[in-house]
Amino acid sequence: MDVRLERELFGITFPNPVGLAAGFDKEAKYTSAFESMGFGFMEIGTITPLAQKGNDKPRLFRLKEDEALINRMGFNNEGMETALKRLKARQSKIIIGGNIGKNKQTPNDEAYMDYVKCFEALYPYVDYFTLNVSSPNTPNLRELQEKKPLMALLKSVIDKNQATFNPKPLLLKIAPDVSEGQLDDIIHIAKMLSLDGIIATNTTIDRSKLKTKDEHIESIGAGGLSGRPLRQRSTEIISYISKKTEGKIPIIAVGGIDSYEAAQEKLDAGASLVQIYTGLIYRGPGLVKEICEGILANSTEQRQTG
Ligand SMILES: Cc1cc2nc3c(=O)[nH]c(=O)nc-3n(C[C@H](O)[C@H](O)[C@H](O)COP(=O)(O)O)c2cc1C
Repeated sequence: MDVRLERELFGITFPNPVGLAAGFDKEAKYTSAFESMGFGFMEIGTITPLAQKGNDKPRLFRLKEDEALINRMGFNNEGMETALKRLKARQSKIIIGGNIGKNKQTPNDEAYMDYVKCFEALYPYVDYFTLNVSSPNTPNLRELQEKKPLMALLKSVIDKNQATFNPKPLLLKIAPDVSEGQLDDIIHIAKMLSLDGIIATNTTIDRSKLKTKDEHIESIGAGGLSGRPLRQRSTEIISYISKKTEGKIPIIAVGGIDSYEAAQEKLDAGASLVQIYTGLIYRGPGLVKEICEGILANSTEQRQTG
């Protein structure tokens, strides 16, 4: 790996800025495979304290014309104990983020306990944590992005983190479907609590500007949309956060990255690292190398013209 691709962020040296987004390897089954594909880091999860099946199938749909996906998986995962076993046994060295959430049955006012449980269980085995409050597929989860519940949730995990010997970076993953007011509140809270970073964004519930026929979209039903149609909105959110914080809060970009150009757009908007999911489905694993090579070529160009 070329050292010019290295990125230093919240105390971690990432060998390159291209990561695997959460939801692809929920239970840390394939960490060696993703390491071999050249990813600079990967995010496992969303993991919940107890195993859960998720929603009934079918729950994942391709919109080929839009190079998009709609999913309503609903946090299907084998639970934190199983994830823990896998992490303990892993051979790979890839940097791992633990993306954590709450079980479907847990009411929102007790949600913090689920996040704390997952935090405590995974703490020794992941490099950073992502608190996922933005999946559209767990009923009412996104309400945890509101000022009061968000403060309470973050504070309880931060308290646990601060009490550890070696606190881990804590990041918040947000939805693209937030209002400007909500986003301002999130930024304010992130600054106030010295959060280590924001991951923007999760999937969207918006269905506008799609090429796929309305009847087909309607027949699919509820779920989060990812891929190309999400690209612009996700970049807008990143840009907004970056400007509002004068670049002081690290941002990991995710949403519609399917080429080097799309990744560079996110970096130009203020992100430090990127993650991919749907792009990997449509473009294949070569996308990781394509993005890394593009970034390298761009840095050489800038040196020559600068
Ligand atoms: C099938 C599927 C499952 C996902 N599961 C999760 C998840 O468990 N936790 C999470 O934070 N994000 C999850 N995501 C969201 C992705 O991590 C990412 O934020 C989103 O898909 C936008 O990126 P993309 O356009 O590159 O796909 C999932 C996405 C898909 C398509």
